[in-house]
Amino acid sequence: MQKNNLLKSTTIALLLCSQLSAVSLGSLLFHGNCTTCHFETKTVSAPAVIDFREHYITAFPKREDFIKYMSSWVANPDAKTSIMLQAIEKHGLMPQLGFDEEVLKDITGFIYDTDFTKEHEGHPH
Ligand code: HEC
Repeated sequence: MQKNNLLKSTTIALLLCSQLSAVSLGSLLFHGNCTTCHFETKTVSAPAVIDFREHYITAFPKREDFIKYMSSWVANPDAKTSIMLQAIEKHGLMPQLGFDEEVLKDITGFIYDTDFTKEHEGHPH
């Protein structure tokens, strides 16, 4: 009985840890790689994160579709596959930054899961 409970709580702790670390990695990579150009809530030299997140969630409401499309677009920015042509007209096409698609899946998953208008993990201020 005791052993069983210990095993259960260890399993739960491990599950929690693995989930937390996945979120942290996405957050870390996002804040290190995207926010240099994309401010979270303000459009300056590139569309605000809340702006492109909104466009993408409208076009791809399902998390896996959102991640798939955004990751491959960011890996290979192209006006032909852009869903924000007006942003390209305004700022010029996003440069290709040579990100790994697996890394981009962590980043875009974090973007999907995060409401940037509220306090959130890894926010620098
Ligand atoms: C060097 C500056 C720069 C960096 C770094 C950058 N972006 Fe961009 N990004 C832009 C600009 C400028 C645009 C607007 C023009 C466009 O859509 O191509 C853009 C557009 C986008 C779009 C809209 C795509 C569309 O459909 O047109 C997405 C999504 C995006 N960026 C995601 C990211 C993510 C995620 C990261 C980090 C991994 C990132 N960007 C890093 C400059 C940057």
